[in-house]
Amino acid sequence: MPHLPPGSRQPAFLQTLQMRDPVRYVESLRRRHGPVFRMKLLGFPPQVVVSTAELAAEIYRTDGDGSRAGALRAGYVPWLGKYSLFTNDGEPWWRHRKLLSPTLHGRSLASYPDLIAEIAAEDIRKWPLGTPFALQERMQAITLEVTLRLVFGVRDVNRQARLRSSLLALSKASGSASLFLMPARLRAWAEKSPLAMRLPFLPTTRTMKASAAVDHVVFGEIARRRDEEDREATDVLGRLLQARDEQGRSMSDVEIRDELITLLEAGLETTATGLSWAFERLMRSPEVLGRLREECERGEDERYLEAVVKEVLRLRTVIYGSGRLLDKPLRLGGYDIPAGWAAIPMFSLIHQDSEVYPEPQEFRPERFLDESAKAAQKSFLPFGGGRRYCVGAQLAMMEMKVIIREVLQRVELTPTDPAPEAQRMWHATLIPGKHAVAVARQHPLSRKPLPEEPRCPVHPAPSE
Ligand code: HEM
Repeated sequence: MPHLPPGSRQPAFLQTLQMRDPVRYVESLRRRHGPVFRMKLLGFPPQVVVSTAELAAEIYRTDGDGSRAGALRAGYVPWLGKYSLFTNDGEPWWRHRKLLSPTLHGRSLASYPDLIAEIAAEDIRKWPLGTPFALQERMQAITLEVTLRLVFGVRDVNRQARLRSSLLALSKASGSASLFLMPARLRAWAEKSPLAMRLPFLPTTRTMKASAAVDHVVFGEIARRRDEEDREATDVLGRLLQARDEQGRSMSDVEIRDELITLLEAGLETTATGLSWAFERLMRSPEVLGRLREECERGEDERYLEAVVKEVLRLRTVIYGSGRLLDKPLRLGGYDIPAGWAAIPMFSLIHQDSEVYPEPQEFRPERFLDESAKAAQKSFLPFGGGRRYCVGAQLAMMEMKVIIREVLQRVELTPTDPAPEAQRMWHATLIPGKHAVAVARQHPLSRKPLPEEPRCPVHPAPSE
């Protein structure tokens, strides 16, 4: 008999219900059972959960030989597609990872910060001054615009509008809680059945229809760009059209479509949520905000800004965990985990390890700067680990830094309520419960005034 870890004895449906508040639930299980415990959730294989970076590293060491990540994400295949980097494993995954990675790393990102700052400034200009508004919505709008320009490379205003509205509809439909709560078998049937597709109230119908509408626009965009043959293009779509694998093969239209939708689904809400938490925390931490403002006003050095972003992603983990389906048995923390189980490093617990992060509830970016920085970095897993480490992590970090700096240089933000906002599940992310509500005022020392509304030189406004 394998020596299994301890865990909840409740039926699977009760455990699943408690995952509506995953942070609190897994914290209660860790307190009761220790750093390794098991869970059973409806529609998933039995799970073993770990709460230290060392145990997480043992799980991620099995990547590529002993475990699969894509197999646990099969529920996303109907709209991400069968070629998606997110849902594949083995050779097909590796081929796409090698084709996609260069478009999101190093030199490819060099030209992006100015454009991201421009997009952010344009949005900030529209923020209401003096009345409360939800920062989460503004961050979603900015990150969507960044995706349209940097990933899809769309400049034409009309095509941007068409793509924007269809992508928003897909993001809304595919993230609905009712879709995730639908039993796996019913969902698999409903996604393929012509009869189910005639029932508009089913979340599967809404998602598949939204996905078909996106496909129409995206395939049109791919065909247009193929005709253009722009070898200098710097957006992800342009680079994917030029990319060749080791055998010299290019990517088909369907492969490119699947990866564009994958980047959208994996990168949009996550980055917008990370940014919302950044402002939620900064507004309630005057000392950190003061030091950060000083650094931003001085210019060049962004070490503190980088530490702030890391501390936000540590303290308010956007994705609470990311696991692997075990193909072979694994010895973990003194227990025997059978093949066929899912092994999950729980980031929300790992980031609260008080041995690595003293007073873990405190928002203290200095942890990533002083002598404890090395240990802090080692247990820092907001982007996962192993070979499946988030392919967009560099872009996300850069995007967050540029947008935070742009906001701080232009407006002062205050919370409407000094109490911290609770973490709430939405899509696959943990968002601020009140959507990071704030009141903005123009920054009195702002070196960068809010940009003026562009004026038409021929038709002046009625008051002029
Ligand atoms: C703050 C923002 C983000 C967070 C917190 C985040 C987090 C994660 C996590 C936890 C994983 C799973 C890693 C694992 O299983 O080991 C992941 C995978 C992934 N992320 Fe991100 N992500 C962010 C932004 C982005 C962006 C901006 C993009 C792309 C534009 C992106 C694209 C992906 C893709 C394609 C994968 C799948 C990689 C694979 O399986 O090989 N992410 N991300």
